[in-house]
Amino acid sequence: MLADEISRLKEEQNAVILAHNYQPGEVQDVADLRGDSLELSRAAAGEKAEVIVFCGVDFMAETAAILSPEKRVIMPEAGAGCPMASMITARQLRRFKAEHPGAAVVCYVNSSAEVKAESDICCTSANGIEVVASLAEDQVLFVPDRNLGRYVARFTDKKIVTWDGYCYVHDRYTTEDVRRARALHPQAELLVHPECRPEVIDLADHVYSTSGIARHAKESPAQEFIVGTEIGMNYRLKQENPDKEFYPLSEEAVCVDMKKTSLEKVLSALQTLEPRVAVPEEIADRARGAIERMLAV
Ligand code: 13P
Ligand code: SF4
Repeated sequence: MLADEISRLKEEQNAVILAHNYQPGEVQDVADLRGDSLELSRAAAGEKAEVIVFCGVDFMAETAAILSPEKRVIMPEAGAGCPMASMITARQLRRFKAEHPGAAVVCYVNSSAEVKAESDICCTSANGIEVVASLAEDQVLFVPDRNLGRYVARFTDKKIVTWDGYCYVHDRYTTEDVRRARALHPQAELLVHPECRPEVIDLADHVYSTSGIARHAKESPAQEFIVGTEIGMNYRLKQENPDKEFYPLSEEAVCVDMKKTSLEKVLSALQTLEPRVAVPEEIADRARGAIERMLAV
C-alpha cells in the first residue's frame, strides 16, 4: 500500500511530513502534523528530522525552508502556489512603502519570500490581531490580503492601509450563501475564516484560522456547524468530531492548488528527495527576520 511505503521511506530518509488543513484527506492521513500556517511554521522551526516534506502551497514550504536552512525541504507538488501571494511583488511593496513613510509593514505569510524580505513582521490568520498590537507605529501597511487587513483593523486604533489582494476561495462567499445555509441549518453555528469579506464576517458566529475552527468545533457544545473556509477543512472536522455535522458554506470553496498534492507525489518526493524548495540566501536572511519576529509575538 502507498501509505505503508511512505511510512517506511519516511523513516529511512529521516523525514517528517507536514500537511496543511486543506490538503486532500489521503495526504492528511499520512502526515505527522496537520495544521494551519502558524502551527506548520512553528513545527518547521523546531523540527529535528533532516528532511521536511511539505504538503501545501509554495509560500508555506518557503517559510519552512527560510526557518530551517540546514534542512532539506521538499514539496511533492512544486507547482502548487497561492494566487493571493502573487498579488503583490517586492517592487510594488517598495513603492507602497515610499508612499507611506514611517508606517510599519505587516505581511500575511501568504506572500512571496521577496515580499517578506521587504516587510517588518509577518502574521498569519491566527495571530494578525496580536502582531498589529505589538507594533509601536500608529500606521500599518497590511499586505496582501485586504479582507484579513480589514478584519484586524476592527481590533486596533492604528490606521491600517490594506493592499487590494484577496483569496479567490474566500472572497467568493456572499451574504446570500450565508442566508441560504442558515435557512437550511438553523441550529448550526457559522464559523468563518478571516479571509472572507467583511459583510460575511459580520454574519458569522466566530472567526478563526483553520486550526482555530478545528479547536472551536471540538470545544463547542453545538452539534452542527456551517464552515466558511476551504472545503478540505471538513475532512479533519468530521474525522475529529464523528458525532457532529459540518456543512460547507459553499460547495464551490475549493483551492485548486491545495488539491494538487497526492499520495503518489508524496511517495515520489520521498524516493527522490525532490523537488527541493530553495530560497536565495540573501532573500531568506531578510525574510527570516520578519517571520521570527512574528513567532516571538
Ligand atoms: P490558515 O493559516 O488559517 O490555515 O490559512 C491559510 C490559508 O491559506 C487560508 O486560505
Ligand atoms: Fe491561497 Fe486562498 Fe488557497 Fe489559501 S485558500 S492557499 S489563501 S488561494
